[in-house]
Amino acid sequence: MKKAEIFINGDKLYEVPVIIDNMGGHSLDITNLRKDTGFITYDPGFGNTGSCRSSITYLDGEKGILQYRGYPIEDLVESCDFVEVAYLLVHGYLPNLVERRKYADMLNQHSLLHPQMRDFFKNYPDHSHPMSILAAMSVSLQSFYPEIDLAEDPEKQMDLNVTRLLSKMRTIAAFTYRKLIGMDFVNPNYKYSYCENFLNMMFSSPVKKYKANPVHAKALNKLLILHADHEQNCSTTAVRLIGSSEANLYAAVSAGICALWGPRHGGANQAVIEMLQQILESGESLEKIVERAKDKDDPFRLMGFGHRVYKTYDPRAKIARSMCDEVLADLGTSDPLLDLAVKLEEVALNDSYFIERNLYPNVDFYTGIIFRAMGIPTNMYTVMFALGRLPGWIAHYLEWNHDPYEKIGRPRQIYTGPQPKKVLPIDQRE
Ligand code: CMC
Repeated sequence: MKKAEIFINGDKLYEVPVIIDNMGGHSLDITNLRKDTGFITYDPGFGNTGSCRSSITYLDGEKGILQYRGYPIEDLVESCDFVEVAYLLVHGYLPNLVERRKYADMLNQHSLLHPQMRDFFKNYPDHSHPMSILAAMSVSLQSFYPEIDLAEDPEKQMDLNVTRLLSKMRTIAAFTYRKLIGMDFVNPNYKYSYCENFLNMMFSSPVKKYKANPVHAKALNKLLILHADHEQNCSTTAVRLIGSSEANLYAAVSAGICALWGPRHGGANQAVIEMLQQILESGESLEKIVERAKDKDDPFRLMGFGHRVYKTYDPRAKIARSMCDEVLADLGTSDPLLDLAVKLEEVALNDSYFIERNLYPNVDFYTGIIFRAMGIPTNMYTVMFALGRLPGWIAHYLEWNHDPYEKIGRPRQIYTGPQPKKVLPIDQRE
């Protein structure tokens, strides 16, 4: 076994075991560091910390590689649909025809919402953000579908919970949209595929016959696959952390939804479109926008740019960029926001600030343009991200639960507060 050594002022403090992962990556195993030496490590934002062992997703941010269970993301978007990829992430292998059909049947069987849950929607104000409804409904599922004893038949029971979540969250997402636009709900329908079903629940109209555009259904499949997992990101870490307390699956997923909502994470897809719209309306030059993004005294950042792990072009952004052309071509239209985004990317990628810091478009830079072309409103974009990320969250929750090394998540801190003090009687306090 390889070992590293830690020296303090020339004196050897500790020998650290080195773990080498399946792709040759090296890690220092500091599990016993504090116990053996009294030292802890400091790593704000966990940029350098491996919090778990995982066999779900492989990501090389320097080379722009993303693989789910060993399969390159580029192949998965071309050859599979979202249901197959969800199965892959959760079960660890791609389903065969029989397994695929059985899974689709289960997704259909569990797509309806409990009537009392349908009533919840009524009481949300019309200006609610859909992510707040999604998070609340997700954790509410636990009350209506309490988990069954996993000890009985763990595989079967977990399959049931997982398909329930995957299927009902799609219904919840569509109902949320209908509620916010003041239209009646449309129930899920067995005859449609996963994505067609979602589009049908979103856009069916009582006055005009609706049939999901196959180009949109295909694009939606691809987008959900692009979002399906991304190893230890903020929301997945939240899911694993909540799961580590042995909270139920629905609670952990709800935490993931809340973490995803923020504009530094999944909320960036909404923020990108809002930013592009503002630029278009203000008529500000792109050079000036980029100057603002570089100015440390200005809180403005270029949304959809930069990533903690990608130091090259995000492979998901590459795929999303080419999908924009396909979807717009099918509509026989163009989008001024796409033209603007392409120009903004060019200005930023030629700027030394962005070059030196390896800041490239991330997945959120172009996906909003595709959602927009499909008629999905801006405030629903992060919900779409959540629907895609759902199988990844579930896979990580299950992996954490089966991990022989698992422990409750409980980091240490560097204390910066006062030294111990005496409590003075209230009349003696300043
Ligand atoms: N615009 C301007 N400057 C930026 C940007 C940006 N979008 N992103 C990073 N930087 C600068 C940052 O100011 C810092 O500069 P300096 O070294 O001079 O202090 C440097 O680049 C490194 O950035 P960081 O904030 O230390 O990097 P991070 O890894 O902590 O943050 C990030 C990553 C994604 C939060 C950040 O790049 C960002 O805020 N981007 C915009 C929001 C966004 O698009 N988020 C979606 C991420 S992809 C979807 C997902 O998987 O969540």
